[in-house]
Amino acid sequence: MSMDLTEKAQGILRGNDRGGYTLPTKGLYPYQWNWDSAFAAWGFATFDADRGWQELETLMSGQWEDGMIPHILFHRPDPGYFPGPDVWQGRGPIPSSGISQPPVAASFMAKMLAMDPTGEARARAMWPALKRWHRWFMDWRLDRGAVCVTHPWEAGRDNAPDWDGAMRAIDADDVGEYTRRDTSHVDPAMRPTKYDYDRYLKLVQIGVSVGWDHEKLREINPFRVADPTMTFTLLRAQRDLAAMGRRFGEDVSEIEEWIAVLEDGAETLWNPEIGGYDSRDVRAGRFNGVLSNASMLCWYAGINDARALPALERMLAAAEYGLASYDPEAEGFESLRYWRGPTWPIMNYLVGSGLEEQGLDGPAARIRRDTARLMEAHGFAEYYDPHTSAPAGGGSFTWTAAVWLGWAGHAPQHQQGAA
Ligand code: DGY
Repeated sequence: MSMDLTEKAQGILRGNDRGGYTLPTKGLYPYQWNWDSAFAAWGFATFDADRGWQELETLMSGQWEDGMIPHILFHRPDPGYFPGPDVWQGRGPIPSSGISQPPVAASFMAKMLAMDPTGEARARAMWPALKRWHRWFMDWRLDRGAVCVTHPWEAGRDNAPDWDGAMRAIDADDVGEYTRRDTSHVDPAMRPTKYDYDRYLKLVQIGVSVGWDHEKLREINPFRVADPTMTFTLLRAQRDLAAMGRRFGEDVSEIEEWIAVLEDGAETLWNPEIGGYDSRDVRAGRFNGVLSNASMLCWYAGINDARALPALERMLAAAEYGLASYDPEAEGFESLRYWRGPTWPIMNYLVGSGLEEQGLDGPAARIRRDTARLMEAHGFAEYYDPHTSAPAGGGSFTWTAAVWLGWAGHAPQHQQGAA
């Protein structure tokens, strides 16, 4: 492991630390983001266990009464970000957004517990909150057992081609005037378009109009897409939650039922036409026909599916550096635009570590090595061009540094927190 890069990665986490929570990166994302924070906790756990546990505790402190843990916690006002707390009008104990994000926190907590067994009391104290959050997904977000997103930001893959059809169905003519902040921090060519932003905001306005009442939103929200990111991360998180629950002497029978439901739900995402796991537009009743890096999260979710291997191998062969966020051979692939092509270390980690766990050493080693090469060449960017390795998006990125510390900076067959 290169000490130089390890020190730099630790320095990024320290530099983005705001005392109890960590910014994804300064400027572009000046608050606590849900899944970024779970990666940050794991990254910290590699050199400062206490700070790692604290990160998760701060995240849990934003939990809504109904169990949801929001995708952004606005701890302190920051005029550099839009849309902020006044636009979202979340209804939790801390100003927040009104949607959630891929539930990876329980899975990172399990890793942290393996790395630091002395943290067991802290993990135990958070376990019920995680279970309530997982139940919230089961209550409000399922379609035929697959987990739906109600906003592209909920999947974390903001402008992925998966959402194109559902976004076209949104009338955003009356969204009103607003000023974006993201494009003052990052080249607009690497960010979602105005067309996308109009619709992102329209969906927020719809949520606010009913006070983020999930029951009403299930009826009126025009955007409801069953998503492999959510389905596979929740399935994995339920398995990790159940394993920790057994260790803590909890009754995990309900979680076992959820696992069975999600396993059936995952199968509803298999699209034989593209030979891969796809997202499903629930409102329109059709597959989106998109092969993405999220399609390849089945192994991470504990589903060792030989049907998915040919597409994985083809996508890896079509890019130089890791797994592209969108099939490089698909029409509309854009190597620098966010989730429409770039390679993302966090997704490379989730997919790559899942492949490792399932014994698929060839593709796993390729993804891990490529991810390390990106960081060795260009440091810790948000994402990278999968053909040239050019860094893109925000710089000094927390979760990219965490992936180095926990995984990419080590030899294959080793990751921080592997049981
Ligand atoms: C953004 O502001 O671009 C975020 O991704 C929203 O979560």
